[in-house]
Amino acid sequence: MSLPRYYFPGHRKIANLDFAKLGFDYTACPYRFEAVFQHGIWRVRGLIEDPNMTIPEGSQCLHYGQELFEGMKVHRGPDDRIYAFRPLENARRLNHGARYLCGPEVPEALFVRGIEEVAAANHPYIPPHGSGAALYVRPFYLGIGDNVGVKPARSYVFRIFVTPVGPYFKGGFGPDQGKAFMVSRLDRAAPRGSGHVKAGGNYACSFTPGQEAKSRGFAEALYLDPREHKYIEEIGAANFLGFRDGKLITPESTSVLPSVTRNSLLEIASTTFGWITEERKITLDELGEMDSAACCGTAAVVSWIARIADGDREWTFEFDERWQQLYDAILGIQTGTGDDPFGWRHEIPLK
Ligand code: PLP
Ligand code: COI
Repeated sequence: MSLPRYYFPGHRKIANLDFAKLGFDYTACPYRFEAVFQHGIWRVRGLIEDPNMTIPEGSQCLHYGQELFEGMKVHRGPDDRIYAFRPLENARRLNHGARYLCGPEVPEALFVRGIEEVAAANHPYIPPHGSGAALYVRPFYLGIGDNVGVKPARSYVFRIFVTPVGPYFKGGFGPDQGKAFMVSRLDRAAPRGSGHVKAGGNYACSFTPGQEAKSRGFAEALYLDPREHKYIEEIGAANFLGFRDGKLITPESTSVLPSVTRNSLLEIASTTFGWITEERKITLDELGEMDSAACCGTAAVVSWIARIADGDREWTFEFDERWQQLYDAILGIQTGTGDDPFGWRHEIPLK
C-alpha cells in the first residue's frame, strides 16, 4: 500500500506519513463521529470534519471534570481487513463511568456504530499491517451546558476521533526493551474514589507523579494502594502483571481501572496456555519474590518491566518468554494473524 496523505485541517495540505516512525502522538485525521444528548435523547450528527469543538463556557466538563474517555486500537490485517478489539467492553466501561458521573449512558449500538463509521471513514490512516503502528480510537463524553452550580449536566456530547499511533513507551516491545518505573508516594485515586472509572480528572491528577518519574529517567509512575501504601495498584495508564511461583498474578483493587487488555490476557493465559492466574492483593515487597513483571493496556499492549525503584530500594527483572507468548497471542487476535478462539475481533465493514 502506498503511503496515505496527511490531512491538515483547514488548509488541506497533503504530506506523507511514515507509520513505522510514529510515536504516541496526535495526528489529525479527516473525520470524527459525534452524537449529542439533549432533552432526553441522543441525536446522531454522524461523521463531521471539524476537529475543533464549540461548547458553552459554563459546561460541567470544563469546571467540574464531568468527562470520560476510552481508548481502543484498530488494526489492519494481512489481507487488508480492518479489526477493532472488543469494542463492547469499552462501551460498557464508558457507561459504568456515565452512571458514576450521573450522566446518560451511550447506547452500546451507538458506540459501536461510531467506532465502525469513524474507522471506515479514515481507513487510509489505518497503518499498514506489520508497521508496528495502529489506529488509536478515542471515544469521549462531555457534560455541557450553561451552568455554574456543582451538578450534573443535562446535555452531553459523545465524540470519537482517531489518530495513527506508534508505541506508547519508547522502543515498544522486545527482549531488550524492558522499562523502568518509579514507585510514587502520591496517589492517582482515593480508596473509595473514582479510580475505577475512566474520568479525565483522574489523569490530570496523575501529571505530577508522572512528571516526577519521567524527570528522573523512568518511563512512568507506579502507584501503591491509596489507603496503606503497601500494595501495588497500577502503572501510569496500565495495569500491573507479575509471575510468581508459576502463576500470573495481578492486583485486586477497587481503585484501579479494569483494563480490557488485562482481562483479555488473563483469559488467554488460563484458556490458551493453561496457566494459573490470580487476582489478589500484591505487596510492594513481593516484587522480591517475583520471577518477572509487566504492565499492560491498550496503548502499552504488554510492556515488560526491567526495573522498579522506590527511593533507595530497587528490584530488577529479566525478560521472560511468557510475556512474548502473551504479546504474540493478543497481537495475533488484534491484527488478524492468529486464531480468535474467544470471538474478540470485531471486523469493521468498509462500504
Ligand atoms: N489503567 C489506566 C489508569 C488506564 O488509563 C488504562 C488505559 O485505558 C489502563 C489501565 C489499561 O486499560 P485498557 O487495557 O482497557 O486500555
Ligand atoms: C489506553 O491505553 O488506551 C489509554 O487510555 C492510555 C492513555 C491514557 C493514553
